[in-house]
Amino acid sequence: MSPKEDTDLQPDEHGDIVKEGYDKIAEKYYQDRDLFKNKKEIDDFIEQLPDDALVLDIGCGGGVPVLKLLVEKGFSAKGIDFSKGMLELAKKNVPEAELILGDVMKADFESESLDGIMSTYAVIHIHRSHHPALYLKIHNWLKQGGIMLVSTAKDECDEDYSTNDYYGAHMVWSHPPARESLQMIRNVGFEILFERQVTTGDETHLWILAKKN
Ligand SMILES: C[S@@+](CC[C@H](N)C(=O)[O-])C[C@H]1O[C@@H](n2cnc3c(N)ncnc32)[C@H](O)[C@@H]1O
Repeated sequence: MSPKEDTDLQPDEHGDIVKEGYDKIAEKYYQDRDLFKNKKEIDDFIEQLPDDALVLDIGCGGGVPVLKLLVEKGFSAKGIDFSKGMLELAKKNVPEAELILGDVMKADFESESLDGIMSTYAVIHIHRSHHPALYLKIHNWLKQGGIMLVSTAKDECDEDYSTNDYYGAHMVWSHPPARESLQMIRNVGFEILFERQVTTGDETHLWILAKKN
């Protein structure tokens, strides 16, 4: 697909670009994804879960390091990703997990069926107009007392979304400022347990741990 004009992307077309982009760069992204500088945030999430937790990783990518860690901790883990290239890697890396090829915005897990839902570096690729619906879905899928960990951006992108060349693929990003993400998460009924800005290399992400009460 040739890149559309950056000024007229619809949210669904936006998703197609992300999916095709990750299909193209899956191997390169995965080879570079050895960092685990957000380990503290993941550990804090894990600490809140019961021993027999059922956990979902949204935009699980190649499954390493996050989904693999969840499995190693003894949890039942599911991963969803709409990039076939990324999910193929996850199947090799974490065969113990239940892996689903699909767009999280179209997915429908059973209400109140999951103990934990996490998403690392994926929400920033979902059009910001969809973020309230995404947080509402996550809230619905979690059991009472369930925990959500998401990384999103600290700053607002200039327009509704921004595009760039990412590992040689056309890529799209979309994120509101931190205060808006926090408000959306509170609005659907979560209690925020922490919000942390974590800098890795030249990027700063906002990590949010929240509980369904
Ligand atoms: C930057 S990668 C992060 C992968 C992994 N979470 C990690 O930490 O390495 C973002 C991933 O989110 C996936 N993704 C983005 N939007 C998605 C959506 N709407 N539904 C499912 N997967 C999505 C992409 O295909 C990609 O694999």
